[in-house]
Amino acid sequence: MAITWDPTLVLGIPEIDAQHQELFRRLDALLSAIRGGSSRDEVGKTLAFLGDYAVQHFSAEERHMEERFYPGLADHRAEHRIFAAEFRALLAEHHRDGPTPSLIIRVNTQLTSWLRSHVYRTDRALADFLRANPG
Ligand SMILES: [Fe+2]
Repeated sequence: MAITWDPTLVLGIPEIDAQHQELFRRLDALLSAIRGGSSRDEVGKTLAFLGDYAVQHFSAEERHMEERFYPGLADHRAEHRIFAAEFRALLAEHHRDGPTPSLIIRVNTQLTSWLRSHVYRTDRALADFLRANPG
């Protein structure tokens, strides 16, 4: 089953929506690499590719929050840090055990479900605020 962004996740801020779509694409590429039997090195590259983009994307959102004095900044940033911590744990697992079925389960249960619920609820609240408080 592919991981796909879907229109229920549209927030109405084109820059952020585009970044979310790219994050879903990179998550899907990671899962496809593991399921398709790619080597440890290749899976490692897709993990790094996802991690790099997640860092850039979170920084972009946090910049918007800082510029507009978003009142929910601290809680929102704390959620980003949870993702970053889970991602680091996955990197360590991959480093130790390689691309295993357990890695697929963890990517699905932790990264993917985190991303969907974060976009749906937390990023939506931010997008509503940004639209109501244009810079
Ligand atoms: Fe966010």
